[in-house]
Amino acid sequence: MNEELTLSVRHLTCGYRAGGGLFEKAVRQEVLRDVTFDLRNGEILGLVGESGTGKSTLAKAILGMVRPDSGEIIHHTKRPQMIFQDPYSSLNPAYTVAWILEEPLRIFGKYDGPERKRRVREILDRVELPEECLAAKPSELSGGQRQRVSIAAALIQRPKFLIADEPVSALDVTIQAQILQLLKKLNQELGLSYLFISHDLNVVYQLCDRVMVMKSGQIVEQGSVEEIFNHPRQDYTRQLLAAE
Ligand SMILES: Nc1ncnc2c1ncn2[C@@H]1O[C@H](COP(=O)(O)OP(=O)(O)OP(=O)(O)O)[C@@H](O)[C@H]1O
Ligand SMILES: [Mg+2]
Repeated sequence: MNEELTLSVRHLTCGYRAGGGLFEKAVRQEVLRDVTFDLRNGEILGLVGESGTGKSTLAKAILGMVRPDSGEIIHHTKRPQMIFQDPYSSLNPAYTVAWILEEPLRIFGKYDGPERKRRVREILDRVELPEECLAAKPSELSGGQRQRVSIAAALIQRPKFLIADEPVSALDVTIQAQILQLLKKLNQELGLSYLFISHDLNVVYQLCDRVMVMKSGQIVEQGSVEEIFNHPRQDYTRQLLAAE
């Protein structure tokens, strides 16, 4: 345990079983190779890299959804909550926002009805949604509102650490800016740490404190936003920046 750190990842290697039908031997496709980094308390750490490079796989490994082949993932705080690109797939369409936000408290919490309602209102206020939204189903909200609901759902159990996998890439640019502003505010007010995954370097530049650049499942460079954007050391990072 380390009081200044949220997460430590050490020499993480993991992958998926590929092939392996009835007559062929399954082989493992390695996706992450020797990934090592720390996430500090209150830090917004960006993860960038081309499509297919293993960013979401790293998120899944941290969440325990993909088992490491070797290496270690050390959580110094409560497990993280996740915010996805597409709130449609993460929010149950059959239920109202009130139900969606209250349900985790019902399942895991020790809170009575009035206390649950109070917490739901408090979190709604934090993500700057009007109370009217409580009665709506996800499909009745705008894309930006829907993403605010999924942020609220991630926050309802008061985590210290969020993983956001392309949380704004499905949104219009103006809405993107509002959601980024909200994430920044929550980071400051609640002292949350984020692992923020994006292929949009501009977004990472706006939000993050530090950045990791991933190529073919390896971290090829990490540093402060200033270092990575203004003084990249690796050719690959320069190429990514030039491709913007
Ligand atoms: N469940 C799975 N089973 C087998 N292979 C997978 C699985 N999920 C991902 N992969 C493979 O692992 C590699 C990394 O995928 P991953 O989704 O982590 O990339 P990514 O960096 O998140 O890409 P993107 O920017 O497009 O989201 C890809 O080659 C992908 O095909
Ligand atoms: Mg991905």
